Amino acid sequence: MWFKSKKTRKASTSNGKKPDAAAAPKRISAAMKNVNAYHKELTKEQIEKGEHRHFVGALWEEVGQAQFEFLKARGLTPEQRLCDIGCGALRAGIHFLRYMDAGNYCGMDINASLIDAGRWEIEQAGLTGKNANLMVNDAFEMSRFEMRFDYILAASLFTHLFGNHIVRCLIEARKVMAPKGQFFSTFFQAPESGHLEPITHEVTKAVTYYDRDPFHYSIEEITFLAGVAGLKTELIGKWCPRDQRMLVFTLA
Ligand SMILES: C[S@@+](CC[C@H](N)C(=O)[O-])C[C@H]1O[C@@H](n2cnc3c(N)ncnc32)[C@H](O)[C@@H]1O
Repeated sequence: MWFKSKKTRKASTSNGKKPDAAAAPKRISAAMKNVNAYHKELTKEQIEKGEHRHFVGALWEEVGQAQFEFLKARGLTPEQRLCDIGCGALRAGIHFLRYMDAGNYCGMDINASLIDAGRWEIEQAGLTGKNANLMVNDAFEMSRFEMRFDYILAASLFTHLFGNHIVRCLIEARKVMAPKGQFFSTFFQAPESGHLEPITHEVTKAVTYYDRDPFHYSIEEITFLAGVAGLKTELIGKWCPRDQRMLVFTLA
């Protein structure tokens, strides 16, 4: 059953194997209420109507497929392990699950209802046999999956986070990256550091901000944050219809 009551949500993964590992600490989620809109919980009825597909930014097929094609082009194979951090309702996760060997896809998100929506999507797609490891967690604790990852993906996550949350995420990622692991992330790029003015981006006309959601960062700011976490940064460039840029973090 894909829907978890509030009592049981945080204590189980989608395959039910690691209840202790899935228990979420309550550390930063209260603070996140003032950061972005993702503290809002969808109801079972809203999920059954597919409203989660809009809640995570719409362009459901296009953006999900783009993430999948991107990582496959970067060498992702079915037997490797992937952590989709800020996975939402598995817009990309469904594609990864279809492709990857059972048990190799892990998704983590702060929003329990989006993880429920992800389970709903898995059922609709007939992919329950792929044993997705899904976890609600508000502190990016990827080590709770108890595995090392060849790939980590954060698609449209850093666009919703302050820099200190990004550093927390990168520090947690560093703990679980395989020696040659790659952490790909999208972000809205500012032309220089400390760019206080709002930016209207080219294609979608999305407006981003220095100090509120959705956030923009210069590549130098992101490189600095990654350095705090002991990671190297490389800018890849344009990748999707949302005006965001892709970059990759590796172990320094
Ligand atoms: C724009 S959606 C993208 C979701 C997914 N990556 C996709 O492409 O469909 C942003 C996601 O980041 C999640 N998120 C926001 N703040 C978070 C945090 N502090 N920890 C984990 N996930 C977070 C939201 O709940 C939401 O699912």
